[in-house]
Amino acid sequence: MISVAIDGPAGAGKSTIARKLAAKIGAIYIDSGSMYRALTYKALCNQVSLDDEDALVSLLKNSQIVLEQNLEGQQIFLDGKNVTEEIRSPVISQHVSAVARHPKVREIMVQLQREYAKENSVVMDGRDIGTVVLPHADVKIFLTASVEERAERRYKELLHKGYQPIISEILSDIKERDRLDIERETSPLKKAEDAIEIDATHLTIDQVVEKVYQLCSKDNH
Ligand code: C5P
Repeated sequence: MISVAIDGPAGAGKSTIARKLAAKIGAIYIDSGSMYRALTYKALCNQVSLDDEDALVSLLKNSQIVLEQNLEGQQIFLDGKNVTEEIRSPVISQHVSAVARHPKVREIMVQLQREYAKENSVVMDGRDIGTVVLPHADVKIFLTASVEERAERRYKELLHKGYQPIISEILSDIKERDRLDIERETSPLKKAEDAIEIDATHLTIDQVVEKVYQLCSKDNH
């Protein structure tokens, strides 16, 4: 069994790389951000205040969040409904950090994430995987890219999905989300001491996957 933690700021390409790497090494891919996104989606649908930690915890305890792998990649089900597309909308991106800052919400999410890693080889991406969720992960990566490059990629992704994104708005949303994730008190976004930093600004996805794959092979699991 092998566990790979991939952390980094918004839009660095973590999920694409984690998904491809997981397929290559026969591990399951866990997108931890999708779990915070699903809770944010449910809170917004139910008009639960994103400042009310206890209300969010109770909402989470009464929710079923299930990650499933199929040919199209990871699908996420919230109370039995496939919300894979909905949770990627800009509205959710704008609010998710407000939900993820609550320690009691994180505690439950971390437990769920660890469950997945218990019996499977996993590639998990997020913000606190190498530092908190899987501190003993075999390979830890901290993936970065310039904020302009990250905004450009997100812009193309949203355009492709049929949105009409505005690049300056995406840039400021990404900066704000990074700021909230870095400055929060509980499990902030930071590089684990033993993580290897990869700057993906001038690398293709396949080049990054190959680099991480080499590190996994070197680890000899
Ligand atoms: O990875 P993604 O951009 O989908 O994550 C959405 C948000 O969820 C992040 O901006 C962050 O606030 C939160 N998150 C987190 N810890 C993780 C994964 C995501 O706080 N492990």
